[in-house]
Amino acid sequence: MPVGIKPLAYNSLWQLRNDTWSSLEESTTQLALAEAQQRPVEQLVETVTGSLDVLGSIEGFWAFPGVQILREVQRLFAAGHYDRLAAVVGRANRALVTESYRGGHAWDLRAEDDDAYDRDTRPAKQFGSERPYFEVLVVEDLTEKQENSLREELRRWRRPDDQFIYEIVVVPSFDEAVMAARLNFRLQACVVRRRFAHHSRHDSPLLAQFIGIDGSDDLMEHTPDDRAQALARSLAKIRPELDLYLMTEISVEDLAGRLSHHFRRIFHAREGSLELHLSILDGVAARYRSPFFSALRNYSHRPTGVFHALPISHGKSIVNSHWIKDMIDFYGLEIFLAETSATCGGLDSLLEPTGPLREAQQLAAEAFGSRKTYFVTNGTSTANKIVVQALVQPGDIVLVDRNCHQSHHYGLMLAGAMVTYLDAYPLHQYSMYGAVPLTEIKRQLLALRRAGKLDRVKMLLLTNCTFDGIVYDVGRVMEECLAIKPDLVFLWDEAWFAFARFHPVSRPRTAMRAARTLAGRLRLPEYRERYDAQATEIGAIDAADDEVLLRQRLTPDPARARVRVYSTQSTHKTLTSLRQGSMIHVWDQDFSQKVEATFHEAYMTHTSTSPNYQILASLDLGRRQAALEGFEMVQKQVENAMRLRDAVDHHPLLSKYMRCLTTADLIPAEYRPACIDQPLRSGLPSMIEAWDCDEFVLDPSRITVYIGATGIEGDTFKRQLLMDRYGVQINKTSRNTVLFMTTIGTTRSSVAYLIEVLVTIARELEAQLADMSPNERDAYERAVERLTAPSAPLPDFSGFHPSFTDGHGVPTPEGDVRRAFYLCYNDSYCEYLTPEEVEQRVENGDQVVSTTYVTPYPPGYPVLVPGQVFSKEILSFMRSLDTPEIHGYRADLGYRVYLDKALEIAATTRPAPRPDQLNRSK
Ligand SMILES: Cc1ncc(COP(=O)(O)O)c(C=O)c1O
Repeated sequence: MPVGIKPLAYNSLWQLRNDTWSSLEESTTQLALAEAQQRPVEQLVETVTGSLDVLGSIEGFWAFPGVQILREVQRLFAAGHYDRLAAVVGRANRALVTESYRGGHAWDLRAEDDDAYDRDTRPAKQFGSERPYFEVLVVEDLTEKQENSLREELRRWRRPDDQFIYEIVVVPSFDEAVMAARLNFRLQACVVRRRFAHHSRHDSPLLAQFIGIDGSDDLMEHTPDDRAQALARSLAKIRPELDLYLMTEISVEDLAGRLSHHFRRIFHAREGSLELHLSILDGVAARYRSPFFSALRNYSHRPTGVFHALPISHGKSIVNSHWIKDMIDFYGLEIFLAETSATCGGLDSLLEPTGPLREAQQLAAEAFGSRKTYFVTNGTSTANKIVVQALVQPGDIVLVDRNCHQSHHYGLMLAGAMVTYLDAYPLHQYSMYGAVPLTEIKRQLLALRRAGKLDRVKMLLLTNCTFDGIVYDVGRVMEECLAIKPDLVFLWDEAWFAFARFHPVSRPRTAMRAARTLAGRLRLPEYRERYDAQATEIGAIDAADDEVLLRQRLTPDPARARVRVYSTQSTHKTLTSLRQGSMIHVWDQDFSQKVEATFHEAYMTHTSTSPNYQILASLDLGRRQAALEGFEMVQKQVENAMRLRDAVDHHPLLSKYMRCLTTADLIPAEYRPACIDQPLRSGLPSMIEAWDCDEFVLDPSRITVYIGATGIEGDTFKRQLLMDRYGVQINKTSRNTVLFMTTIGTTRSSVAYLIEVLVTIARELEAQLADMSPNERDAYERAVERLTAPSAPLPDFSGFHPSFTDGHGVPTPEGDVRRAFYLCYNDSYCEYLTPEEVEQRVENGDQVVSTTYVTPYPPGYPVLVPGQVFSKEILSFMRSLDTPEIHGYRADLGYRVYLDKALEIAATTRPAPRPDQLNRSK
């Protein structure tokens, strides 16, 4: 590693590049000075050489400063023109820092006057040039002269009214194209020409450390078209949003029919570059469009007479008011100009969209890789209820993680589902749950199969990723479940995972990408062969022994499996959107035939007839941003998270009291065949390996900090220290942990502030400890002991009372939460019992049944649901809690439970099985 370059945090090669330009500016300035003062320069020469070595291997992936300026810098250095060298490097670095290069003007490397410096380094917007800037990758082996002439040719097509401005980056090989796509997040398009090499000519260990390349094997043997196809596939895998163009000299008409759908257009090289230039701009413009936002903005500037509801529309009820003028002062007028209840005049109706909203949703579907996307203005809480109602009929069995968000519990209750709760693996030490292991899901499905109830199973519902950042192997879960139940529907609650689509490492574990991948694989002949081989080995799945099926990785029958996948995302949680902006993404092969109508009804059930237009417009813009700069933002988010982790774990004082929990802490080894304890810290190739094969992985953007050694309980740490004293907001805590989330809105400065706050807290703690009396010291040590000792074990789901199970055929665990929920509306069926009374009854062997959800907060998961029996484990867990809120439990009265007579009535008033289910269950 060159002098002055520190080992890097995860995959931040672009950061290395920025830092290297900055250190180069510093060292070349010192070099010029040392030479002028006739001081020794050897050391500085070595430092500059080191920086230039680094830049030599990576600068070619960016247009600015790019190889052109770097070559000039190298030439000046070699010639010993240190003064000029310092000037050029200074200008280049200033331009990088101020991002003035985004103005897209050509640099005059020879200009030395102040005007040139000023022009080259002032932020682009100060020149009135706020056109978005991007870079276009050109893959072709070109000489320097050819490259310059291509650059000039494309620049000549620029027009003042172009919407955007771009520069090209030329790379000569497949490998370098892939590296550029990984590294340069300013790229929006790629032009593949036919002459490019297979591997890079430069063997760079620095790059190898960060980049995993696949897809280029054996390319030498293929035709140029095959190579172009393979490159398109690789690029689409890394950056599906990039517009790909092919430029070729051979018959484009022939090629057009044969080439991969990844190419947006094919051009004949001899026809010049104007069409290409226009297409590049057009491709980016397509993603830049935000139809609903534009419609709302246009509408807001039209004068209207409002003889409708909504007096606030156009700010009318506010501007003439004497008493609420501060509302305009605070919010600004525009937001009220955009308040309207109109659904025509260029606007649209969310309940039956035919115009800009429909188009905005289609653009979102493209960006998020779904077949259909629906906007939701009341959060994922509502999105979840819509999907469940659309798909689940009363009596259908749904398998769900017991620790899922409350909206699922209420949604399933309203839908009348028979609910089978799945247990996630517990992390007793940190008082948290992990995620549901695949064997637990398979075990439940197989039990239902044995009971002849598999036909009644409709849906599997899981949270990906969990609040604490545990991410499923979505594709594998679906594949194995479909082997047992080929028409199972999946609802993945991705409330916290919308951003994952925009990073190549996390994308394969999103529901939409996994659905598409699985559907594609099911069509492959190799897949059919794999299924046939499995049939030879274990026989038909329907007849195979449960233990074999649990042990074996299962392949579904491609002729029977249907890919039916839904995901709900709180856009507002991890991408840009106003609060409550969420999306439902659909990848269901049977949607139009089986679901569209009921989906519409469900959407109508839960959607306001006055949806908030500002939320909808922000979803449209959030999609635009994600499609154009999602990759950059997510990459930076991950890097910020790594910085935070490093800062906590490497700080001598902080690490005395706090520790970031690692993958190994949060995911037991049995779920991690890659055996990498800290994939995030071991470099991108390790991370890719773990994300490829481990059953669970950890979302790097979430950092759970273990604070047991502070002696301060998680909730107190959050409220009294972080929030009240320092204005740091966090969401989740457990007894001895606090969760810090980084998002695309997290800046390096906010990370620095957090570190500062944590260090201050640790210092104060040190000071308090130093002053403590022996008694106080004892109390502190007891607190630490309590927080660091294992808590009462987290209880598993204890089961429904038999009155609320279906009571037909072989008993299975699913319960009718809706009946159990509504039965207690009759007061005479219920009573309150103190915890001691419940304990006594449980001790006596009685079944005590909850009428309602009992949810300690934190952690926010129901420990009891309606119809569930109390267990000793639940009671001991509840006793050990010192959380401030327990929903569904009244401190003055105790638990609300069913009287025996209610349970008897429930047992005798069970609904008969649906006739369709009875017939099919045989
Ligand atoms: C897993 C999960 N799903 C759904 C929701 C609800 O999302 P929203 O706040 O968008 O309604 C949350 C909220 O925290 C959540 O954690």
